[in-house]
Amino acid sequence: MPDAPIDTALSARPAPTRAGGEPFTEEGSAEVVAASFARTPDPRLRQVLTSLVHHLHAFVKDVELTEEEWETAIAFLTRTGQMCDDVRQEFMLLSDVLGVSMLVETINHRTGGTSTESTVLGPFHMVESPPRELGDDIALDGKGEPCLVTGQVTGPGGEPLTGALVDVWQADDDGFYDVQQPGVQPERNLRGLFTADDDGRFWFRTIVPRHYPIPDDGPVGELLVATGRHPNRPAHVHFIVTAPGHRPVTTHLFVDGDPYIDSDAVFGVKESLVREFPVVDDPARAAEVGLPNPFRTVHFDVVLLRTDSPHVEAQPAAQPAHLQSTVVQGAPS
Ligand SMILES: [Fe+2]
Repeated sequence: MPDAPIDTALSARPAPTRAGGEPFTEEGSAEVVAASFARTPDPRLRQVLTSLVHHLHAFVKDVELTEEEWETAIAFLTRTGQMCDDVRQEFMLLSDVLGVSMLVETINHRTGGTSTESTVLGPFHMVESPPRELGDDIALDGKGEPCLVTGQVTGPGGEPLTGALVDVWQADDDGFYDVQQPGVQPERNLRGLFTADDDGRFWFRTIVPRHYPIPDDGPVGELLVATGRHPNRPAHVHFIVTAPGHRPVTTHLFVDGDPYIDSDAVFGVKESLVREFPVVDDPARAAEVGLPNPFRTVHFDVVLLRTDSPHVEAQPAAQPAHLQSTVVQGAPS
């Protein structure tokens, strides 16, 4: 069979950049470039790229980006990539401080206001929490302000979820997780996996966590400095709560009154997750719960959606751990 004429062979190829014959112009730049992706076989990839091109071109036109600024941006992104390794994900950190991580999380975990809201998992759930008995003290070194945490796990109708699993972990009184300070903090300090009782109730002893900074010794830190932003996350206790037949929730319990509660560097705070930690000055009660007097206390009820709820649209329970780098492994600076 003779070779096809050259013009026939060319006509079978994907459209060139100037799809539709339109030249590249300032006014029509987005349409011309988007058209170059028109034959992308994967429809979702085509949709995402087309939208990206339109938004990106609109941004460049909006600020009338200079060549010098464009070069600065390329250099910044290059250094951001170069900062990444097995334990540091600077691009994820950039996503975090731009609010993109939380936006993606929020879009993908809508609850319709019917259950406990979720927030970022964070990178410090890298070891399994040890199973503990209700009432145990997870502050293994006893450092910090003692605190009693109580709560109940229920379904959306208030029905107690007997035997729900409540996995908690938190930073210490200095703002460090155990895995950041091997040899300083006891292993598995401030971590626990609790099983709720017949009424879905849980309680344990701990200390009040402290706020801490995200890693700010890289390009993202430079961005924060250049824009007058601090790197801190407000104090919080992490929770993952699970129960059969219900959608798990990955969330934080935030300490009201924290100096950074209104300015979380990664925008992880949701108002529904903030609780007061009042002081209890009652020697009898302190003796009853096994804490020194006075002590702090907080109550945090958790409501889980049923898996057959219309709000559960086959969404994952939380962003996978490898997709989260609110803080990376290693001590924050
Ligand atoms: Fe955290």
